[in-house]
Amino acid sequence: MLFKQQAWLRQKLLVLGSLAVGSLLYLVARVGSLDRLQPICPVEGRFGARGQAEFPLRALQFKRGLLHEFRKGNSSKEQVHLQDLVQQLPKAIIIGVRKGGTRALLEMLNLHPAVVKASQEIHFFDNDDNYAKGIEWYRKKMPFSYPQQITIEKSPAYFITEEVPERIYKMNSSIKLLIIVREPTTRAISDYTQVLEGKERKNKTYYKFEKLAIDPNTCEVNTKYKAVRTSIYTKHLERWLKYFPIEQFHIVDGDRLITEPLPELQLVEKFLNLPPRISQYNLYFNATRGFYCLRFNIIFNKCLAGSKGRIHPEVDPSVITKLRKFFHPFNQKFYQITGRTLNWP
Ligand code: A3P
Repeated sequence: MLFKQQAWLRQKLLVLGSLAVGSLLYLVARVGSLDRLQPICPVEGRFGARGQAEFPLRALQFKRGLLHEFRKGNSSKEQVHLQDLVQQLPKAIIIGVRKGGTRALLEMLNLHPAVVKASQEIHFFDNDDNYAKGIEWYRKKMPFSYPQQITIEKSPAYFITEEVPERIYKMNSSIKLLIIVREPTTRAISDYTQVLEGKERKNKTYYKFEKLAIDPNTCEVNTKYKAVRTSIYTKHLERWLKYFPIEQFHIVDGDRLITEPLPELQLVEKFLNLPPRISQYNLYFNATRGFYCLRFNIIFNKCLAGSKGRIHPEVDPSVITKLRKFFHPFNQKFYQITGRTLNWP
């Protein structure tokens, strides 16, 4: 009996020992690869001499830990408040465009230590019922942050909804507005693909893209089709310009954010007056996903959900040509107003 127990104990110790050695080897390998990757985020004093604020990394980690505990119910609201954490109205909003890459932009900006994202789309300004709940309701939907940090939210429906510019203006007339756009025809097809997936899930029948985008009676582009209308960026922007000067907008090239995210993010950092903190270390290309993914630190990295980057259906090339021709003059106007020329056909 005693012999059996000793053998069992020896076996357990052997397993534990191999586990410990394995973990050690893994850590050594990770640290080794980290050296090669040359992390640029410093451990302390995350803002340099040009920066406006200091966020020691340990404080940020503590903040995350505390909020985790808070969510689990192990930490009181008072404890969170004791750490000077507040729920702030957004200083910048990604107002659109749907399927432009709004989620990728929000997640990538959240890599910056001074940015805190609202994870969910809040739909405060475009939904009358939510708007009626008042600005305090909206503020309470925001994540906890340090006063020196900025909160960003994204709700792509804002860009195309009539009432939104005035409502946002009433909240903060100097807010910064981010618009991420993609080549209009590709965006329309992406929009269609998302709706199609929803219909298929519900076993509903749906028309082909060609049938929706082209009016069968006139053989012209169907401007009543929402996916087409949303891609006429200049029309929507003109409504916004009745409330905000163009300097308060920044246009992000959504096509470039897919292939070369860092320079696009650096432009946004500049626009938001943030010190440059997002680096190549934070972004790595994942060949399986076919997209850039996010690396927050040595332990935590993530790719966007599978619903981002759907395979588009094949569309009749003559329809694509027709749509591109249709969007062309609107695109020219958009470049002229925004001062950003994009390489769209
Ligand atoms: P597709 O699904 O058409 O490829 P939104 O978040 O506004 O709905 O935009 C979705 C689009 O973001 C996707 O469109 C995808 O191409 C694009 N995107 C940009 N960067 C991405 C990334 N790093 N990972 C996944 N999708 C990304």
